[in-house]
Amino acid sequence: MPKVLISDSMSNVAQKIFEKNNISFDVKTGLSEDEIIKIVPDYDGMVVRSATKVTKNIISAAKNLKVIGRAGAGVDNIDVSFAKENNMIVMNTPGGNANATAEHAFALIMSVLRKIPFANETTHKGQWEKKNIKGNELSKKTLGIVGFGNVGARLSYLVKGFDVEVLVNSKSLESRKKDYPHVKNVSFEELISKSDIISFHCKASKDGKPLITKEHYKKMKPSVYIINAARGNIVDEKDLNEALNENLIAGAALDVFSNEPAKENILFNNPKVILSPHIAASTAEASIVVAEMVANQISDFLLKGIKNNTV
Ligand code: MLT
Repeated sequence: MPKVLISDSMSNVAQKIFEKNNISFDVKTGLSEDEIIKIVPDYDGMVVRSATKVTKNIISAAKNLKVIGRAGAGVDNIDVSFAKENNMIVMNTPGGNANATAEHAFALIMSVLRKIPFANETTHKGQWEKKNIKGNELSKKTLGIVGFGNVGARLSYLVKGFDVEVLVNSKSLESRKKDYPHVKNVSFEELISKSDIISFHCKASKDGKPLITKEHYKKMKPSVYIINAARGNIVDEKDLNEALNENLIAGAALDVFSNEPAKENILFNNPKVILSPHIAASTAEASIVVAEMVANQISDFLLKGIKNNTV
């Protein structure tokens, strides 16, 4: 009977699927790298979310491991190339939390445009800041979406009722353009200079270099808002902070950080920034879908050799 380690907390739907498929499993969350190294040789499969870092050391110790499944989209917490060198399959669950992430990006857009966090905080304190809070409307604005995978595409549909022009910067969109007549694929330069809101939904670059730096902010509208619910290192936080303080741009809303969990960050307490702790995908609905997908995929691979959603 194959054996799977679930090393991050996730919906118990995954456990039910393994039970149904006669795959034995252990749920051991919050382990250190050393603790995982000690137990990982016992397992054929491993299921993680983002907390477990599947390092070279863990992979080297995992003598029987055949598959690593990520309940989520990003696999930056897994050393994928080293896993492949060691004949392991890495899978993720693309699309499983795309709607949740797109809705959060949308929530960030509306929150930053209407200054909801400030309004909420001050109203709770009995301060009546009505005169000091003037928002902006989303309607009739230009939304720039950088990266047009499952999340970017979903966001483009969510804003449809707002009479928004959607600019996209995506290499992969060219071949499937006819499926998305409501968006216009443009160069990165055009997108950043024409957009009123720029939302990132792309992967971080392999070399870890940020996609936007100080020079880019100078080309943007001073009224632009930056949204990042993708990966923290897409946006250089120091440059973003400077751009905000120098009024090169109007504001930002971020769900992701260069260092997570973010205990310290240059953007903390900047009043032009609203923040959330990497929760874009954290909905009741999406956590069930990703757990279900990853458990089914791992079961199919361990029991039948079927490879789904490998990265
Ligand atoms: C993902 O990559 O699926 C999301 O960022 C969610 C997460 O990492 O937990």
